[in-house]
Amino acid sequence: MCGIVGFTGDAQAAPILLYGLERLEYRGYDSAGITVNSGAGTLLTEKASGRLANLAVRTDNGTTLRGTCGIGHTRWATHGEPTDNNAHPHVASSGKISIVHNGIIENYRKLKDWLLDKGVKFHSETDTEVVSQLIDYYYEGDLLNAVRKAVYKLEGSYALGIVAADEPSTIIGVRKEGPLIAAYTEDAAYLASDVTAILKYCRDVIYLEDDSIVVIKPGSVTCYNKYGKVQNLTPVTIDWDIEAAQKGGYAHYMLKEIYEQPRVLRDTLAGRITEDGGSVNLSEAGLTREILRSVRKVHIVGCGSAYHAGVVAKYQLESFARIACEVTLASEFRYSSPVVQPGTLCVVISQSGETADSIAALREAKSLGVSVLAVVNVRGSTISREADYVLYTNAGPEIAVATSKAYSAQVAAMTLLAIALAEFNSGVNRESLLAVLGDLRKLPDLAEKVLADVAPVQLAASRYFNRGSVFFIGRGLDYAAALEASLKLKEISYIHSEAYAGGELKHGTISLIEPGTLVVAVALCSKLAEKIESNIKEVKTRGAEVLAVTSESLAGDFADSGDIVITVPDTHELLTPLLAALPLQLFAYYTALNNGCDIDKPRNLAKSVTVE
Ligand code: M6R
Repeated sequence: MCGIVGFTGDAQAAPILLYGLERLEYRGYDSAGITVNSGAGTLLTEKASGRLANLAVRTDNGTTLRGTCGIGHTRWATHGEPTDNNAHPHVASSGKISIVHNGIIENYRKLKDWLLDKGVKFHSETDTEVVSQLIDYYYEGDLLNAVRKAVYKLEGSYALGIVAADEPSTIIGVRKEGPLIAAYTEDAAYLASDVTAILKYCRDVIYLEDDSIVVIKPGSVTCYNKYGKVQNLTPVTIDWDIEAAQKGGYAHYMLKEIYEQPRVLRDTLAGRITEDGGSVNLSEAGLTREILRSVRKVHIVGCGSAYHAGVVAKYQLESFARIACEVTLASEFRYSSPVVQPGTLCVVISQSGETADSIAALREAKSLGVSVLAVVNVRGSTISREADYVLYTNAGPEIAVATSKAYSAQVAAMTLLAIALAEFNSGVNRESLLAVLGDLRKLPDLAEKVLADVAPVQLAASRYFNRGSVFFIGRGLDYAAALEASLKLKEISYIHSEAYAGGELKHGTISLIEPGTLVVAVALCSKLAEKIESNIKEVKTRGAEVLAVTSESLAGDFADSGDIVITVPDTHELLTPLLAALPLQLFAYYTALNNGCDIDKPRNLAKSVTVE
């Protein structure tokens, strides 16, 4: 959730920290702060509630904090309101130790009482402050030693960055379940929650392991495991283009990322369809034909949009590959007592690869003896490292909190998996495989076509942006697409919206339909078109206005029932969610824009949810 960055070298630290925090602001944006070691035995700290811009103003773009070693933080509040005082870094009462933290210290109450008994004074409402006070309590001139003693007492999940006034060029990083990377050049070194913060300076990054402690000095990074033994962790080279993590002329990251989808679809499919176009090859993910042949059931877990990608995959796996599939919210997986059978493949879908609930589900699945496939975007992330097989989604860095291109890449990757598994089903003939693969290859071009025709979506957003409540309906794969469309709209426009299977509204929710209620009907599956048309009639009779999203060949059927009809090109039924997503993402985007919302950083959210 929160973002951490650290720098030590021979340049001024504060501007580098501010730059890194700007790249990390998507992780949390309710307050930010920086500590810089003055080099003369003092720590200089500035914090500001609200957006990072407030901190930049307060520090005159970092120029008022002079020093070449420091740590910075951008916060997503858990314990204590987002005030200046609760913002990180947290400096111990002595003024000698300062820390930034991502995660939750579960036993902070107990530790706080213990320290209060010893006369330590606290200055904030956070769980984090106990860590700085605890390190300070143990500090006797050796920061590493004090950190080790303090960490031994901590329970919960955390990534920490720590500096001490008397160790002017050292930063210590600690990782337990919270993402943290380190990197170094000849004369500098970095600590960060995410590569985007430091990509400008170095591309070879070290992903810290759980329970690692890392000592960072200019030109060096030394990692220790929990027993104090030096670890030789191999750096991973990040090939992401820096430009890819910038807005590139678009008004928002989200809009840029929506428009990147044709390229993302090409990259996700690249090299995974055999040259003759007749087969899927996932050996790069470690999924050999033998492994695929042994799969009897798929159990998908994920959160938010990743879960919705899983719902799409369930329909694809069951209808096309004829493989039983269960989809469970990652946060519920452990509590649902999953029944696993021989031949079950657990698939964890995650953009960041750092979502705490998804990591917990992965570990639960492994403890049940199930093989785990990670469908992940971020290379080197925790989920990618802990899974047995990894299918990367190749979406590139996604900065907007609301996912668009990473979701589409997840659906594309899962489509490949469904087709690969279908190849072992004797009921799926060669013609069917060739048909779906042929259309899959054409999909990036079709996506380009959809994105070029934005006028109907803008019209719909300008007509409906002030509705208090929106219902999305669909059946089958259209219902799966509706789930994601509804989340997209509500998370960035703050309009209450819900997605329903078309047949379900009449079982209760239809009582909420009144004149002027907007119903968005997703209707791309031809087999179900008549059914959804009946559902549209039901809501129209009760005064709803209807925005229909359908295919070119079905458009005629909805010409009378939809108040506005948006069409996308025809494609194979299995692939329709990939095209439906595009106008629906744009509808959410333009609706939020018309409402003056902060599209890339919606309130209360963070890009990567690293707490449970
Ligand atoms: O990084 P992950 O894919 O694991 O994240 C899962 C969800 O937190 C994420 O999809 C979230 O729902 C997005 N904000 C949706 O736009």
